[in-house]
Amino acid sequence: MGFNPGSRMSAQEKYLITGAAGFIGSHLVDALLARGATVVGLDNMKLGRRANLATALGDSRFAFYEADVNDIARFSEIVAAETRQAPVTVAWHLAANSDIRAGVSDSDVDLRDTFLTTHNLLKVLREHKVPRLAFASTSAIYGEHPGLMREDIGPLFPISNYGAMKLASEAAISAALEAFLERAWIFRFPNVVGSRATHGAIYDFVHKLKKNPTRLDVLGDGSQQKPYFHISDLLEAMRFIVDNGGERLNFYNIGTAETVTSVRYMAEAVVRRQSPSAKILYGEGNKGWVGDVPKFNYSIEKLKKLGWSPRLTSDQAVDKAVEEIVAEALAG
Ligand SMILES: NC(=O)c1ccc[n+]([C@@H]2O[C@H](COP(=O)([O-])OP(=O)(O)OC[C@H]3O[C@@H](n4cnc5c(N)ncnc54)[C@H](O)[C@@H]3O)[C@@H](O)[C@H]2O)c1
Repeated sequence: MGFNPGSRMSAQEKYLITGAAGFIGSHLVDALLARGATVVGLDNMKLGRRANLATALGDSRFAFYEADVNDIARFSEIVAAETRQAPVTVAWHLAANSDIRAGVSDSDVDLRDTFLTTHNLLKVLREHKVPRLAFASTSAIYGEHPGLMREDIGPLFPISNYGAMKLASEAAISAALEAFLERAWIFRFPNVVGSRATHGAIYDFVHKLKKNPTRLDVLGDGSQQKPYFHISDLLEAMRFIVDNGGERLNFYNIGTAETVTSVRYMAEAVVRRQSPSAKILYGEGNKGWVGDVPKFNYSIEKLKKLGWSPRLTSDQAVDKAVEEIVAEALAG
């Protein structure tokens, strides 16, 4: 899975990726290496896995550091040493707490891994004169919004600590643009699915069924509907935005074109593929957990206007991801 040949991101670029051993980060590492770039990856391995970097670690253009973004002294030393070899041109900030539920029970988790990582990264970028930043934000910044979620709606009131700390990160990036950053691209991701997933409903279902192939307990009544997006489309969309988003501050929803998938569809797809005789047991209510946004409508008109549309519908993305995640779980 790679970026289209002929895109404007140059092979001479040197990228820093935080959260490089995670689900999306490791795919991004592979995609950028495939384009001929030099990549420096960093991850504290809290949720990341070395196996995700199996291919990249064999590439001489990839350097990996097991380090915490919030260990600012060590992080700064790493970027200083890398900068001495060749300047870092773009930082891709993906390190965050991706376990929204963990952030509900302990609000320090998101303060530390979702917000302070952004704050500390910005300090290091300023110190080492890294001019551009691409940031993995989220649809969770919008909270429980009744209408179409467009980039220009407001005021925004997130309903999870995770969403709150991502929104605060966007604000910190905006301020950094005034102070020193030359350009930033903010991607508001939907629910991303695909191989190497470290979390999410499909991942949970597959691993529950692996433990007990006879029944699948589902949080909520299965009616929650969200747009799901495949990692292959996400990589393309990010590349497109970085190539074509020429404003100082570029911010885009990334998602499927008005299609959504219910939890029931996902549960049935996983059971069909992995354990056809399993019984599905649904819970109550249309929220899986506190801070879960049950239904939403995401606008991707701004991204379409820029010139990019997704290839897969939400259901197609889910079908593809179920295949990949079940295959991985059965092999592992
Ligand atoms: N997967 C999705 O559906 C989704 C949706 C919206 C936004 N995002 C955002 O995309 C990014 C990547 O998410 P993902 O799904 O790949 O999650 P992930 O957990 O697989 O990847 C995040 C990585 O960051 C690392 N990390 C966390 N705190 C760190 C720290 N202090 N220092 C260094 N490394 C640290 C983790 O070990 C992990 O490998 C995150 O910022 C996430 O918030 C993901």
